[in-house]
Amino acid sequence: MNGKQAAGYLAAEWVKDGMTVGLGTGSTAYFTIEKLGERVAEGLKITAIATSEASEELALKYNIPLLKASEVDKLDIAIDGADELDSQLNLIKGGGAALLREKLVALHSDQFIVVADGSKVVDQLGAFKLPIEVVPFCYEWTLHTLRESYPVPFEVRMKGQDIVVTDNGNYIIDASFGRIESPQQLADELKMITGVVDHGLFIGIAAKAVVGYEDGRTEIIE
Ligand code: A5P
Repeated sequence: MNGKQAAGYLAAEWVKDGMTVGLGTGSTAYFTIEKLGERVAEGLKITAIATSEASEELALKYNIPLLKASEVDKLDIAIDGADELDSQLNLIKGGGAALLREKLVALHSDQFIVVADGSKVVDQLGAFKLPIEVVPFCYEWTLHTLRESYPVPFEVRMKGQDIVVTDNGNYIIDASFGRIESPQQLADELKMITGVVDHGLFIGIAAKAVVGYEDGRTEIIE
C-alpha cells in the first residue's frame, strides 16, 4: 500500500449509509472511489456527484449511483486530493485541471476531506504552480492582466501542441509564485480579475486531511 492508497481508503471508511458524497479527482481520490465501489458492492447505500468526467466514469464503473446538482441541495461529505496543503488546511488544487468543479462540490459539502500522501504537505503554499481557470475568449488579455499584476512566470497549460481545455470548456494558466505569503489575499485578488473563472487556492474550506505514508501509516490533520 502506498501513501495515496492509505489516505484514500481511510477517508472512504468515513462514508456512511445514506450519505450523498462528492467524489474528487486525481490519483488519490481514485483510491477513495475504488474503496467506495467495493463498499457499494457489499451493500453501502450512497449517492454521489463527481468532480470530473474522469471520476464520473470511475463511479459508473463501480456502480456508485450518481446524481445531478438539481437533485440535491447539499452534500454530506466530499473527499478529494490536493497538490499542496499547509498546516492550516489551505490547499492548492487543480493539477488535474478539475479545480472549478472540485471547488463547487467542496463548498456545497457539510464536510470537505482532503486525501494526500506526505509529499503534498508544505510549510507554505506556492512551490506547486497555481492553476488559474480562465475563459477562452480573449484569454491573451487575461494573461496580460495577470502578468501586469504579479511579477512571476505564467504559462498557458498545454498538452503537446494543444491548449488544455477543462471539462467546463475553459483554459488553465499556471502561475509560478514560488511562495504565497498571503493565500487569502491572493485568492480574493485573482477572483476580481475579469476573465478568471476561478483558481486552485482552497482557503478555509477543508475540515480535515488524511495524509498517508509509504509504510501505510496515516495522519489526520484538523
Ligand atoms: C485535480 O484537478 C486536482 O485538484 C487533484 O485533486 C490534485 O491534483 C491531486 O491529485 P493527485 O491525488 O493525483 O496527486
